[in-house]
Amino acid sequence: MGCTYKYLNGGPGAPAFIYVADKHKDTARPALSGWMGHEAPFAFDLDFRAAPGIERMRVGTPPIIALSILEASLDIWDMVEMDAVRERSIELCDLFIDEVERLCPQLQLGSPREGKCRGSQVSFHFENGYAAMQALIANGVIGDFRAPDMMRFGFTPLYTDHDDVRGAAAILGTIINDKVWDDPKYQKKVKSYMIKPYDPSDEGAQMSFDGRMSYGDYLQIDTILNTQQPLSTAHDEMLFIIQHQTSELWMKLAVHELHAARAAMQENRLEPAFKMLARVARIFEQLNNAWDVLRTMTPSEYTEFRETLGQSSGFQSYQYRQIEYILGNRNKSMLKPHAHREDIHALLKQELEMPSLYDVALQLVRANGVDIPTAILERDVRDTHQADDGVEAAWAKIYNAPEKYWVLYQLAEKLVDFEDYFRRWRFNHVTTVERIIGFKRGTGGTGGVSYLRRMLDVELFPELWHVRTQL
Ligand code: HEM
Repeated sequence: MGCTYKYLNGGPGAPAFIYVADKHKDTARPALSGWMGHEAPFAFDLDFRAAPGIERMRVGTPPIIALSILEASLDIWDMVEMDAVRERSIELCDLFIDEVERLCPQLQLGSPREGKCRGSQVSFHFENGYAAMQALIANGVIGDFRAPDMMRFGFTPLYTDHDDVRGAAAILGTIINDKVWDDPKYQKKVKSYMIKPYDPSDEGAQMSFDGRMSYGDYLQIDTILNTQQPLSTAHDEMLFIIQHQTSELWMKLAVHELHAARAAMQENRLEPAFKMLARVARIFEQLNNAWDVLRTMTPSEYTEFRETLGQSSGFQSYQYRQIEYILGNRNKSMLKPHAHREDIHALLKQELEMPSLYDVALQLVRANGVDIPTAILERDVRDTHQADDGVEAAWAKIYNAPEKYWVLYQLAEKLVDFEDYFRRWRFNHVTTVERIIGFKRGTGGTGGVSYLRRMLDVELFPELWHVRTQL
């Protein structure tokens, strides 16, 4: 499809045309089916049946006057060779480039310099191109402007000659060198040229924050973004730091949610607790996805800064330990790396004094009419809960009658769901670690992968997993 506006310099309103290869003309479907392209236009059928051959492509009433002018202009082509026209077009454009570069060196050529790579037009960059083009138009040289700074000139080799080109370049030279464009009347933009960047303040966005609390103030972004301090020049150390810091932020939210979930369960407000547990599971899903970013670091890249880490390791993450303690994995020897920080040590010890999330879940089971052994309910909560047949029997009862124990059944699934994500985190961690350091010792001093593999066996809510075998 083409337009004679573009291809034949027809200007606005010039007819369009379509070309269909001979072999397709009886089968091609017109994109727009028009009355004039109907097989039987005067049958006034409701359905469209394409006329045979190229006639089917007629979509509207032909603009007769425009077509007659077009036809006359096409006659010229019987008198000239296309190669000659092309040669002339290149010549005129070359001349224009030479003239403009000579007269206005401040304009920068935007089109290819090599003639055969251009169409029949030439563009120049000029920062005040819009106003300069208005001045040119006012002086009889009609080009066009494309934002942000492009002045575009078309050459019609059939009727433009060298003098026209030199004349246009001279007028342009005067406009640029005498700064004619600087007249306010040429600066005023008409709307089609106003390719204005989107400005959110147009729809009320607050753009001035002098004396008002901004995003950065509220979130203390400066503080957060100033805490990435690599100790080496290794490119990947930034990734390593941010990966850990973002994990710690998500863990902070997990602690916040788990505390609230436990409190809600203690008050028998199960719906909000379920919602919070679901959120914690999603947080772990997020942490699981984060491994994909860290995995892009190769052993060679890690080796570049490993030394700078000294003995530091995620093993000493107190929030991770706190999460484990909240859930019920209460290995007290994990307190030791925090002995030097009284506040953190106290926080973890305080956590051990509280019943774990699982302890509270088992209390709820009892409160909702399913027996749990008293020894379990009265156990020393500072220790890790050990799998118990009586507890497994309780869960079996619930799983065997979900409708009767719907709330407990839901609770069980929320806990399993969460532990499922937690396990995946551990698995992703150990796999990433193996990928990066193989079986080397960890910076924290453990056997590394061997230690982490042992941790894969940890069961936070053991009976909830064991019960599945008997269902
Ligand atoms: C290059 C990446 C990493 C490597 C090579 C790595 C290596 C290790 C190793 C070897 C251990 C065992 C303790 C030790 O001897 O150091 C460990 C523990 C740990 N790492 Fe990573 N780790 C990496 C990334 C992460 C990230 C991004 C986190 C997120 C916070 C993280 C959190 C932990 C935690 C919480 C532990 C203790 C696990 C437990 O005690 O069960 N690690 N890591």
